[in-house]
Amino acid sequence: MKDVVGVVLAGGYGTRLLPLTLTTNKHLLPVYNKHMILYPIDTLVRAGITEILVITGRDKRGASMAGQFIDLLGGDDKDRLGELLGRKIENKVNFHYKLQEQAGGIAQAIGMTERFVGNANFFAILGDNIAQDDVSQKVKEFANAESEAHIFLKHMPDEKMFEVVKGERRAKYGVAELAGDKIKGIEEKPFRPKSSYAVTGLYMYTSDVFGVAKTLKPSWRGELEVSDLNDYYAQKGRLGYTILNDLWLDLGVDHDSMLDGALEVRKMLQSTRP
Ligand code: DAU
Repeated sequence: MKDVVGVVLAGGYGTRLLPLTLTTNKHLLPVYNKHMILYPIDTLVRAGITEILVITGRDKRGASMAGQFIDLLGGDDKDRLGELLGRKIENKVNFHYKLQEQAGGIAQAIGMTERFVGNANFFAILGDNIAQDDVSQKVKEFANAESEAHIFLKHMPDEKMFEVVKGERRAKYGVAELAGDKIKGIEEKPFRPKSSYAVTGLYMYTSDVFGVAKTLKPSWRGELEVSDLNDYYAQKGRLGYTILNDLWLDLGVDHDSMLDGALEVRKMLQSTRP
């Protein structure tokens, strides 16, 4: 069985969290008792992934953020990672780093992982997502997948699905249209979503995704969209999915999502303390 490698996407400018992100990268802001990026890293580590590439970027003034991530995470120090995650780590985890020069979109950042990933299958996770589900079985199943993709969805009641931007009500997330055990189509932040299943920032790909990423065109917001990447697989009938049951949050939406996230984490810790 091939090993699945991990990628954490922590580029972007964090514009929606200004002014906090003037001096610090969004993913290094605290969410209750941890830096934001440690939540997605924890999801990968719990799934048994031991090689992790962190993609980070520059701030709007051009200063690289990579040093701050290296200072925090280091190379492969198990005790340090244990201290950061607040638990004992079984396997050594190797961190690798790469700089995305400009925030050209999530799909652009995924495309940049080609040399690190090689021919492996990989799990990409957004650096501002908390996902509590144990996804290790899904990762094992995907280890030998070929030319396909698998994403994780979360059922969202309307009050959590929508936001009003400039007077228009639209979904806050990518939304999936389901057809049995496959996804029929993906739309990014649609006005009229075709289901109540949000696309979370957890994705598994095989290495043919790099060829697909090269064919994408920038969207209306000037980014290469992960939803376009996923929709490519959906249109070919090669996009599988899993529905998350436990806590899932996109922390990076705005200041409220950071606060709600911190309160949820506190609640979760209180309920698991002996
Ligand atoms: O959280 C789930 C949602 O994430 C999905 O439902 C959407 O389909 C997906 O597009 C994404 O939406 P957001 O609007 O929340 O994406 P955002 O621009 O906040 O970027 C999310 C993370 O991706 C961010 O924490 C860092 C990383 N990123 C983003 C950009 C634009 C990069 O690494 N590079 C980038 O260029």
